[in-house]
Amino acid sequence: MPETVFLKDYKPSAFLISETSLDVRIYEEHTRVISAFKITNRENVKGQSLVLHGKALKLIAVAIDGRILNANEFEVSEDELTIISAPDAFVLNMEVEISPETNKSCEGLYQSGNILCTQNEPEGFRRITYCLDRPDVMSVYQTRIEADKVRFPVLLSNGNPVDRGDLSDGRHFTLWKDPFPKPSYLFALVAGDLGLVEDRFITRSGRSVLLQVFVDKGNEDRAGHALYSLKSAMKWDEDRFGLEYDLDIYMIVAVDAFNMGAMENKGLNIFNSTCVLANPKTATDATYQRIESIIAHEYFHNWTGNRVTCRDWFQLTLKEGLTVFRDQEYSCDMMSRTVKRIEEVNYLRNTQFVEDAGPTAHPIQPASYIEINNFYTPTVYRKGAEVIRMIHLFIGGKLFREGIDKYFELYDGQAVTTEDFIHSMEIVSGVDFTKFKDAWYHQAGTPEVNVETSYDESRHSYSISLKQSCRPTSECESKKPYLFPVLFGLLDEKGDEFIINSENLGCKQGYMRMNRFEETFTITGISSKPVPSFLRNFSAPVKLNYEYSKAELIFLFTHDNDAFNRYEAGQRLAIIELELLIAASQKGEPLNVDPRVVDAFGSILLDENLDDDLKAEFISMPSGIVLVERMDVCDFDSAHVARETLIMELSAKFTEQLKSIYDIRFSFDRNYSVEPQEVGRRALQNKALYYLAKTGLRTFEDLAVKQMAESNNMTDELAAFSILCELEPVVRKKAVNEFYDKWKDDSLVMNNWFAIQASSSVDSIHIELEGLEKNSSFDSENPNKIRSLYGAFMNNLVQFHNETGRGYKYLADKVLQVDSFNSNVAASLSLGFKKYSKLGPNRKLLMEFQLKRILAHGGLSRDVYEIVSKTLG
Ligand code: TRP
Ligand code: ZN
Repeated sequence: MPETVFLKDYKPSAFLISETSLDVRIYEEHTRVISAFKITNRENVKGQSLVLHGKALKLIAVAIDGRILNANEFEVSEDELTIISAPDAFVLNMEVEISPETNKSCEGLYQSGNILCTQNEPEGFRRITYCLDRPDVMSVYQTRIEADKVRFPVLLSNGNPVDRGDLSDGRHFTLWKDPFPKPSYLFALVAGDLGLVEDRFITRSGRSVLLQVFVDKGNEDRAGHALYSLKSAMKWDEDRFGLEYDLDIYMIVAVDAFNMGAMENKGLNIFNSTCVLANPKTATDATYQRIESIIAHEYFHNWTGNRVTCRDWFQLTLKEGLTVFRDQEYSCDMMSRTVKRIEEVNYLRNTQFVEDAGPTAHPIQPASYIEINNFYTPTVYRKGAEVIRMIHLFIGGKLFREGIDKYFELYDGQAVTTEDFIHSMEIVSGVDFTKFKDAWYHQAGTPEVNVETSYDESRHSYSISLKQSCRPTSECESKKPYLFPVLFGLLDEKGDEFIINSENLGCKQGYMRMNRFEETFTITGISSKPVPSFLRNFSAPVKLNYEYSKAELIFLFTHDNDAFNRYEAGQRLAIIELELLIAASQKGEPLNVDPRVVDAFGSILLDENLDDDLKAEFISMPSGIVLVERMDVCDFDSAHVARETLIMELSAKFTEQLKSIYDIRFSFDRNYSVEPQEVGRRALQNKALYYLAKTGLRTFEDLAVKQMAESNNMTDELAAFSILCELEPVVRKKAVNEFYDKWKDDSLVMNNWFAIQASSSVDSIHIELEGLEKNSSFDSENPNKIRSLYGAFMNNLVQFHNETGRGYKYLADKVLQVDSFNSNVAASLSLGFKKYSKLGPNRKLLMEFQLKRILAHGGLSRDVYEIVSKTLG
């Protein structure tokens, strides 16, 4: 059984490395890595053993201060090299051989297409050489790369290029120096024959920084948005946080084989090509926005992550939660703040809340792990960001900024903990965050808040009682209370806001502070029974339950002054209705939709004062995931049927309005732009088309066919394609073939072609999957293709959970297949089984069989083992 690592066992390293020098010699079939580490014993003790990490390395030689060690002076095992009695200060030289060409794990040095590149977070550097592969060992690096000049004309590493030259046999070298001490996980190297697009940025202190984006040759016309986004993020971080870039060069490299989105290596970010490349013909608006936010995220890591890094991997949310908060704020400043917030909250509910309710629930700062790669999660990232957001709300933007300044004043150049971050915020604000931290950093599960209100007519007082609870989770059976802000407002019958007067200290205008398990706030001077608007702007990552009547929700949907909560009211209203429909479907009764609910959504369509992007969000229905999440036993089919019913009812009743929304917005020859207003226009137009197609009327099918064929941008084309994919088989087939013929040579566009088909609720998908895997555009070893096909299918609620169990068998096969070469991606696929404990008896048995089959498989990775064993419970 793989062993568990505990936070409580953390000890500082006995040895430190001040300087690292690497000489990486790339040959046809292998690579030699010659290293020199300047090492000291932390306590100046002689004779201690030095244990270095290593994985899949072939040791050629090891020397201390130039003297080659004898076989009895060191030991090599599967994952360690031990220098048996090390001096207190010395230079350790090693030579190892590695094989990037056969490394399919996308960790360490590996081959992607014709490029060699690295991914070292969290523990990939040990696949490059023996080392102290932990974030609290920070060192300055110098890296010499040598390779064939024709095959690898571009040789990159961190820092500044300081030398280059030609060698014999058609080889050449480049030498890089990075003056900033860094942990091994931020080391990067790239070798390839790459196209380059570049620009410059002048920092606020007047330094000129060279910005370079390297892409596969032929993709240069898709690098512009990344460059634009980078400059925009650099400017924003100076303005908002006073943070300036610190090297003379900033490089971004796009690669096709990558386990996640992107990586913040110092001065040399490496990106999944899906998160860099865009032009209007091939990338959707969503892709444009995703690229901008990921470019910003990685750039922001230069300060929150690289200049100040993590002491150990339990501190991951220190850099990730904070950096996500920063990239969210950046995006909010670039587009409609409310729309961005709605998107964020949806993402949180569809991923993080699900995780927190499932078998792999963990606190944003876990106390233990089997495989750290399994903790790059929505919880650590997104809930982590929500926790930072609450601190921001509690102390306000000005003090928060002072806290950030304090953080860098105290910890620049160091590897620190989440305590240290909180400490900075406490110093500047005088607020004691001890209890806040105890609850939010160390407990898993989403808190639930039950709210009750009562209005006293004679006293004109309104009281609000809040009660919180949180389900027991493995790390914490009985929970301490969470501290959080509940933004709120009280509306009179005209929709005007009451002034809040309360004797309770925790209750001010706009705001209630939840400090204990139960709080009651009494507000005076309320002259008529108000309609409350709770948790405005989603001020805390909790589930807030309040028994609204449909009439109150309809009122809030149209009257709330807080746009975010107007959206929320619509969602709550839809959920009430959908749950009635689900219950009817389960009883085999007819599904009758309340016309008041349909009309409420219809009135949004007619609202002339709403921006397109907001309107598109307002009329969206809650996801199937959200509906299933609220059930004790998952009923995927009823959720689907209920959702379809409500959507069809809305589109039947408001066909004309939808059609005119569509007609006003669509045009085949408008110049494409990603200005928020244009993005919003397309979002609403395509939402209208989606509803129109649900009427089943032939004219709207034709409209979608026409839009797919004639639009000049991928946003409109793909929207039409996915609509057609849900229609009858002949229509679907035709769309699939036409899209394929047009885009088969474009790997990035094909990712969508695979994903949309695999997400389809049609019954034939099970057979279609086999054909898709055999398609020549598919690559069963490429993480993007794996995610597009297997990943999209496992998120297909109706078909993955097909009652025959064939979806479960399919995924189990894929988990095992992928685990043989990429445990990281295999583990993410094994998360597809997360609903195990909430399935009905038949499905549960079928899934259990597959989970046990995976566990029994010889040579299973720690990654998959951890998730599957936790899932079985
Ligand atoms: N630190 C990266 C980020 O959040 C994410 C990351 C961690 C990653 N491990 C990875 C990316 C492995 C790619 C592969 O920006
Ligand atoms: Zn990150």
